[in-house]
Amino acid sequence: MITLSARALASRLQEWRSSDPAYRALADRIRLLVLDGVVAPGTRLPAERELAAELGVSRTTIAAAYADLRDDGSIESVRGSGSVVRSSNRPMQIPDLATGPIDFSKATMPVYPGLAAAIRAATEQLPAMLAESGFDPLGRDEVRAAIAQRYTDRGLPTTPDQIMVTVGAQHAITLIARTVLRRGDRVLIENPTYPHAMDSILAAGGRLVPVPVDAAEGWDENALAQVIERGSPALAYLMPDNHNPTGATMPTPLLERSLALAAAHGTVVVVDETMGELTIDGPRRLPAAAYGPAVLLGSVGKSLWGGLRLGWVRADPSFIRTLTRARFASDLGTPAFEQTVVAGMLPDFDRVLDERVAWLRAGREHVLAELARRFPEWRVPVPGGGLTAWAGLGRPVSSQLVLAARSAGLVITPGPRFAADGAFERFLRIPFSHPVEFTDRALDVLERVWARVAGGAVRAAEVDDFAAVI
Ligand SMILES: Cc1ncc(COP(=O)(O)O)c(C=O)c1O
Repeated sequence: MITLSARALASRLQEWRSSDPAYRALADRIRLLVLDGVVAPGTRLPAERELAAELGVSRTTIAAAYADLRDDGSIESVRGSGSVVRSSNRPMQIPDLATGPIDFSKATMPVYPGLAAAIRAATEQLPAMLAESGFDPLGRDEVRAAIAQRYTDRGLPTTPDQIMVTVGAQHAITLIARTVLRRGDRVLIENPTYPHAMDSILAAGGRLVPVPVDAAEGWDENALAQVIERGSPALAYLMPDNHNPTGATMPTPLLERSLALAAAHGTVVVVDETMGELTIDGPRRLPAAAYGPAVLLGSVGKSLWGGLRLGWVRADPSFIRTLTRARFASDLGTPAFEQTVVAGMLPDFDRVLDERVAWLRAGREHVLAELARRFPEWRVPVPGGGLTAWAGLGRPVSSQLVLAARSAGLVITPGPRFAADGAFERFLRIPFSHPVEFTDRALDVLERVWARVAGGAVRAAEVDDFAAVI
């Protein structure tokens, strides 16, 4: 049985207080950790007294929070083991069993229509490919060459020895974090940011140092400069183009200044360009390393299909060699066939992107209009690119809304999941990348539960089936 110490739970809870009574806010926060898979079923929670001391609240508050969690079956008392998170095998109650839960937690487009033909074309190369061993931690030569050529075509001269092909961008983030970071190293991240990058950094022992990004105002320039100057973080993880989740883009002068400052302070800047080319307003900018020293991450997970699991790193050849040595501890290379498929598509990738951006533009217009009509009190800045809007709800109810939505058959990620510090209870990430009919079904549910949450009629204890959704 996994035992969670009071300190470990406290660090996962982060800013758990809300306008609700303390016991209820705490119980809701723990529910959300279970919901997000941060606390696994079967985990033993800390003793009431220890958690009370760690959080600086009374033991009665903890007892009431645990009682609340017991009431809805989230935890159970096991003799000799205390309070244990239950696994729920009850079927989820959803309004329309024929259609199943609506997964609005992922920001993805439907698969790129030309992918099937590209896969068929790639099979012609099977004889040559199958003649090789298939173990290749750097990536196939012609694939690295095709990726390097695309950077060069985009205006950033690149050679194949600057490229490592990875199993998606997520793999690249993990590999870099594991390679660069020592336990306790500071890592500059945007706040909000892409949650699984935080997962990788924390798993590698990094300490998150957040820099605010606002969907309308952009990056907090002061904070960005101060964190680099005063903290000399070992790593900075940035998404300057079409930032996830806000869709904001960092002005080029600020990008140049930040990269120069980071270089001067010995900070390795990792720029995640997974969404970087999905620019809806204005032309696509040069890759970030054209403006200063940066390790670039690319992926076709958002532009073509997540199931290809194909990404890459662009960095100095010496850094690529360091990553290669570190890679053997976890995997021995990227699947060969998927690499061949993508290499075949890269020469014509601008056309692919134009089609994808046209789809996203239509999706964005639809979602913005629907949100304005259905939720007039929300504040939704226009995202200039990417796949999501970052909606300001005007009140700190994101987790409540998400819990209520899950019991009504809609899976969506609460604002705090994108936070380094538990903030963003007032925000919700809304994808505009899905087909319009799918989006409308999701918004129908959201509109229904919003009326109840905003009216104060929902509290999390009503929601008894959320665990089944995970
Ligand atoms: C910003 C960002 N980086 C990386 C990833 C993961 O990419 P991949 O599917 O290539 O691992 C995602 C996927 O959602 C993302 O949004």
